[in-house]
Amino acid sequence: MDLSNHKYKREAWNSRLGFIMAASGSAVGLGNIWKFPYIVGQNGGGAFVLVYIFCTLAVGLPIMLSEFTIGRKTKLNPVGAFQALKPNSHWVKVGYMGVLAGFLILSFYGVVGGWTLAYVIKALTHTMTTFSSSNEAGEFFGTFISNTWEVLFYQALFMGICVGIVLRGVQGGIEKACKVLMPTLVVILVILMFRALTLPGAIDGVEFYLKPDFSKIGPQTILIALGQAFFSLSLGMGCMLTYGSYLSDQENLASATVYVVIFDTMIALLVGMVIFPAVFAMGLEPTEGPSLVFSVLPAVFFDMPFGNIVSIIFFTLLAIAAITSGISLLEVVVAYFIDQRKWSREKAVLITSAVIFAFGVPSSLSFGILSDVKLFGMTFFDHVDNIASNYLLPLGGMLTAIFIGWIWGTKNAEEEIKKNKTNPQWINIWRFLICYISPVAVFFVFCAKFI
Ligand code: TRP
Repeated sequence: MDLSNHKYKREAWNSRLGFIMAASGSAVGLGNIWKFPYIVGQNGGGAFVLVYIFCTLAVGLPIMLSEFTIGRKTKLNPVGAFQALKPNSHWVKVGYMGVLAGFLILSFYGVVGGWTLAYVIKALTHTMTTFSSSNEAGEFFGTFISNTWEVLFYQALFMGICVGIVLRGVQGGIEKACKVLMPTLVVILVILMFRALTLPGAIDGVEFYLKPDFSKIGPQTILIALGQAFFSLSLGMGCMLTYGSYLSDQENLASATVYVVIFDTMIALLVGMVIFPAVFAMGLEPTEGPSLVFSVLPAVFFDMPFGNIVSIIFFTLLAIAAITSGISLLEVVVAYFIDQRKWSREKAVLITSAVIFAFGVPSSLSFGILSDVKLFGMTFFDHVDNIASNYLLPLGGMLTAIFIGWIWGTKNAEEEIKKNKTNPQWINIWRFLICYISPVAVFFVFCAKFI
């Protein structure tokens, strides 16, 4: 049955590898390289990492397979997909929630994406080669992010690059770029890891990172770990669903899921092995927060042979990782307007990106002139991030799991998963996880949060 209602031919990925790299490109981004280390740092190190890995495997992986499955079955955006499978039901609202989450996330994602571009330029123009300590690097970062016009300029530049790629559609740009850039990222990270591990005092960082102290785990930590797993895997808002909608029926959904999850988790863990040894070696606090990567790494690079070149390469790759994720967020919102509202791709991309940018402006200024404007102790940036990452994504993920497990049914889903004549060995485990573990885990975490 063809559930799509397009009069035009829908785009599709060119190859299996291309799809895996594009989905990994969506997953691997600021969530892994910027957010993961500072969240680990703020939540006690090793124990948090274990909780995070558990959330990834028990909740993230089954939900990713579910999103791919719904996407490929319906070949539609999140709203259209739920509408196609359960017409005119409340489930369609889950799709709307996803599009809204994509909007919110990209609004602040573009801010940090802009910072990464700024650092590429600053590394290229040698503005960053003068640090003798990480304190100086930290001050440099603080001055930069509070500079109103500069951050807005780079935020606009980041959005502009995403617009340029998404305008060209999914195949040519996204797929080609991700196939080259993702493996390069791994190579650079491994080099950086060796450099960080050989710094004097690095061992304390390794200990902090790998030695679990379970006294630091509470309901709040688990909520954050789960939110981070969703964020890092691009789950809970129909992003992977949308990417799955460009997949052909010949692909093996189950193995693609495993590759993407392994790739994403590996990168996050690797980044931790770069940052924490470096943080401790530099005598910094791992609890520094969002500025961790931006104020620590430049100082590490300063000490390295060819440090400036490495820093150019690192921030370029960070920017690229951010872009390959940013385009996936934009694509969700765009796909909704193309499929459901029958807008042209051009109109959808230009209008949505402009509105997202505008909504992101107060987030951008949250580190400068709006830094004292706080509600419940949090800035605008913090609130948007918190609402999207800690509430909308887990909620969307939980509802997706319930939808697959109990509403659309695992029987229908399995039929779609096995369409290419494969029979994944772990399908029984998946069925159990998606019916019981994923929804219950998220529900429990929500309850713990409110009690
Ligand atoms: N996963 C990306 C990262 O780690 C960000 C991202 C892209 C995302 N698409 C998403 C997060 C969808 C949540 C939902 O940086």
